[in-house]
Amino acid sequence: MLDTLGSLERTHTCSELRERNIGEQVVLMGWVAKKRDFGVFTFIDLRDREGVTQVVVSEETSPEAHAKAKNLRGEFVIAVKGEVVSRAEGTHNKKLATGDIEIKVRELLILNDSKVPPFQLEVAGSENLASEDTRLKYRYLDLRRPQLQHNIRMRAKAVAKIRGYFDGRGFIEIETPILLKSTPEGARDFIVPSRIHTGKFFALPQSPQILKQITMISGLDRYYQIARCFRDEDLRADRQPEFTQLDMEMSFVNREQVYREMEGMFNHVLKLIDVQLPTEWPRLTYAEAMRRYGSDKPDLRFGMELVHLSEELRETDFAPFAEILAKGGEIKAIVVKGRADYSRKQTDELQEFVKRYGAGALAWIKIGDETTSSLLKVLGEGKIEELASKANAEKGDAVLIVAGKKSVVAAALGALRNEVARRENLIDRSKYECLIVTEFPMFEHDDETDSFVAAHHPFTSPMDEDLELFKTAVNDPSQHHLLGQVRAKAYDAVINGYECAGGSIRIHQKEVQSLNFKALGMSPETARSRFGFFLDALEYGTPPHGGFAAGIERTCMILVGTENIRDVMAFPKTASAQDLMMDSPGDVDAWQLQELGITIAGD
Ligand code: AMO
Repeated sequence: MLDTLGSLERTHTCSELRERNIGEQVVLMGWVAKKRDFGVFTFIDLRDREGVTQVVVSEETSPEAHAKAKNLRGEFVIAVKGEVVSRAEGTHNKKLATGDIEIKVRELLILNDSKVPPFQLEVAGSENLASEDTRLKYRYLDLRRPQLQHNIRMRAKAVAKIRGYFDGRGFIEIETPILLKSTPEGARDFIVPSRIHTGKFFALPQSPQILKQITMISGLDRYYQIARCFRDEDLRADRQPEFTQLDMEMSFVNREQVYREMEGMFNHVLKLIDVQLPTEWPRLTYAEAMRRYGSDKPDLRFGMELVHLSEELRETDFAPFAEILAKGGEIKAIVVKGRADYSRKQTDELQEFVKRYGAGALAWIKIGDETTSSLLKVLGEGKIEELASKANAEKGDAVLIVAGKKSVVAAALGALRNEVARRENLIDRSKYECLIVTEFPMFEHDDETDSFVAAHHPFTSPMDEDLELFKTAVNDPSQHHLLGQVRAKAYDAVINGYECAGGSIRIHQKEVQSLNFKALGMSPETARSRFGFFLDALEYGTPPHGGFAAGIERTCMILVGTENIRDVMAFPKTASAQDLMMDSPGDVDAWQLQELGITIAGD
């Protein structure tokens, strides 16, 4: 038989009581975290979202409560009424905020029972946790763990800080619709069929990009929103199909003014964990970031910059290198301090690692008592010494070398740099290193379709210096390849190797916007059918404008120090975009499909 709550009211949370409360009559409510039976005494660790308090039920002083306590198991929901008393000498628990006291129970109510949870909730740290799939299926139980409760509350605090920041600076919070038309951000859309307009579809926003620009055309000037975004793309450890952005936009601004808001917002939010970032963040152009780190989101908590070896190997007759250089490729390396002792197995493993990024092989030089190298036979001792010296490698170091197409060398060595830092424990977890990466390329070449796609999104403005180049490349088909050289007024905010925000100054002139659609291979008819409303809006006095969006999850990952995006979301999807708790995506009834005029191919 379960008890009813009736008019009983909780007086304290499970983390509040201290020695100063001794003698007070209190009522606590929560879940049974642990029960220990000592015959005439039963000890219960009572848990709520704030913490744990020890509760003692004695057979002698409250026989009825003691009899009830016998039936308790983990996760039962109870209320206890009793007196705060000091713990017996030698049983104080310094690890617990309430560890000096306990509650001597007079009355115990069992408000609900619980099945035995499918996994243990009371585990310290992340070791011995049940598999993530099991925890996601029973997310409500996983969320009872103090670590996840901390993360979810930190997220709420971060969002509150963000709102405070923008409200205090004259930005207006505006909600934009979820049922929308396609807003391209480089992923596939999630689409929603319309019942009233059979055969027509809404798309869920990949971001509120176009609408926030329209608020600028509307003269609202400073907009922000905590916006839900939906992207049907391949998932990674730091990506989800549904995620949240702080989205902002402002009028009459240059890039520096947007950077200031980006810096200001992150600096304000990181105060939550007492981290002081510089008022002005370091800036690095995209070209420089790629040259030095092989990445547009370099982790600056460690060095290990890329070393350029192409010049030293320009005259080589080693055919694979000569061929790569003749085709405009590159040869670069990183130096791993103190790892001349890399075994064959270890270098083989690292070779397999770089192959995932398209590299053909990983060459190495190890400077032990003697210098050895996988290239010794083909390059000779003198050249190997020269390469090691160019790399500033010293006795005891290993040099890891990749040759290939520029983009492959950057991707492979950029990733290897992070991987080696992780394996060699080179990352100081107490450090927070931020930067703004600027001057991103306007376009990326898609080798599969041999066409250019927007590197950021189609509304990003070219740099003033590159406007003529842009116009020539679009209007003169023989110069189309030059699109690859056009730089954009686009930027990212990077913290500890994570892209936490991205943005740009936008195109605000209709002609330039039309040209950009053309550059992206859209006919005027396609551009009109997809973005006609926007092209029209641009013709009615559009102010120069720009902004950025920050990933709330990425920011919270930094705040709580996790590498798993699911740790900062209450109800995340799996890596294969499923919700294991609700079992979605799922089937719908045949009549629902019929109403929508949809038949499933193959049914
Ligand atoms: P962008 O696509 O760079 O820009 O997104 C902005 C920020 O959102 C976060 N983010 C994600 N977080 C989790 N899962 C995902 N799948 C995911 N995709 C992106 C990242 C990223 O930096 N409309 C533009 C912004 C602008 O130009 O103002 C946009 O959405 O932290």
